[in-house]
Amino acid sequence: MLLYVVEGAVPILLGLLIWADVLAIKKNHEKHKKVAMVHAVATWVSTLLLIVLIRLGFRLSENAPGWIQEVHQYIIFAVPPILLALALTGLYGKRALHLPVAALYVVSWIGALTTGGMMFAMARGWM
Ligand code: HEM
Repeated sequence: MLLYVVEGAVPILLGLLIWADVLAIKKNHEKHKKVAMVHAVATWVSTLLLIVLIRLGFRLSENAPGWIQEVHQYIIFAVPPILLALALTGLYGKRALHLPVAALYVVSWIGALTTGGMMFAMARGWM
């Protein structure tokens, strides 16, 4: 139940990420910084909670094969440090580093969503 509450934050975090990205592309840097920081704090809190709950043994898709659960968890565990690098490079104006880290961050989000969806489908025998 608790894990569902944390997973329920994913659409909100994704919405904030897309909003922050659109603002960055439109070169609205001040607003991008604010929305991205809200996304960052909300993402750190949610992932840390998720990591604690997984350590405590909570699972959403227990019936999915172990390998896909592991891949999904590795990707999730990588999100907070990549986001920290993104916040630091953004706040210190290191644009040349901020852009590749932003690309890596988007790729890890896509990976997390894809493997999460696969776990859900595999646990129900759809895949
Ligand atoms: C985590 C907190 C973040 C902070 C504090 C932050 C801050 C900033 C700042 C200050 C700039 C302007 C850099 C400059 O031109 O000197 C910038 C640009 C940019 N940020 Fe972020 N950012 C954050 C997260 C993100 C995220 C999550 C993404 C997308 C995945 C992102 C993508 C971009 C892009 C694409 C630009 C370049 C915009 C342009 O073409 O000028 N940032 N960011």
